[in-house]
Amino acid sequence: MEGPSTSRNSLAAALVFLLALFSYSTTLVVRAETRFNTEFIRTSCSKTTYPRLCFSSLSRHASLIQTSPKLLAGAALNGTLDATRSTSGMMLKLSRTLGMTARQIGAMKDCVEELADSVEELRRSIAEMSRLRRTSDFGLVMNDIETWVSAALTDETTCSDGFAGKAMNSKVKNAVRGQILTVAHLTSNALALINRFAALNG
Ligand SMILES: *[C@@H]1O[C@H](CO)[C@@H](O)[C@H](O)[C@H]1NC(C)=O
Repeated sequence: MEGPSTSRNSLAAALVFLLALFSYSTTLVVRAETRFNTEFIRTSCSKTTYPRLCFSSLSRHASLIQTSPKLLAGAALNGTLDATRSTSGMMLKLSRTLGMTARQIGAMKDCVEELADSVEELRRSIAEMSRLRRTSDFGLVMNDIETWVSAALTDETTCSDGFAGKAMNSKVKNAVRGQILTVAHLTSNALALINRFAALNG
């Protein structure tokens, strides 16, 4: 025979079960979403020149990007700006360390200037990206952004090329050159993602 307290207990048990089921299925949905967003980044990155760098630098922003080509391009630009800034800071510090010839310091300084131009071009592009939704001249604005990011890539390439030729401590040279190349590859990827976003919306 069941008393009122027994049926209350089974009702409570049923509720706990339902809650557990609900929270479990929510976890499953979130996991499926994350996998879906991550796949979007992987697929988009596969069309860039440096797909592995693209994926490793962007996949951590999967929940922000979701499946938006615009947010993907924006996150790529932001990451590129951060990397360019920190590389330029590192070079500025290195150019002040002792034991470098005037010529080596000169090469570093040229590079720092080129990277500063690149930072400026990337900053402008990011500002325009965030303004994009408010303008009706989508094509023109995208064209500006593509031009600036290409210019940033040229500046970085000039920096890395100039660096390769200079007589310099090879350990420092290789470390710095590696960083600059990474920045250039990030920029190239960002440009590819921007071009793709532009093509989808043009
Ligand atoms: C990129 O950075 C800008 C400026 O900090 C910010 O407003 C924007 O939300 C960022 N975009 C993405 C996709 O992270």
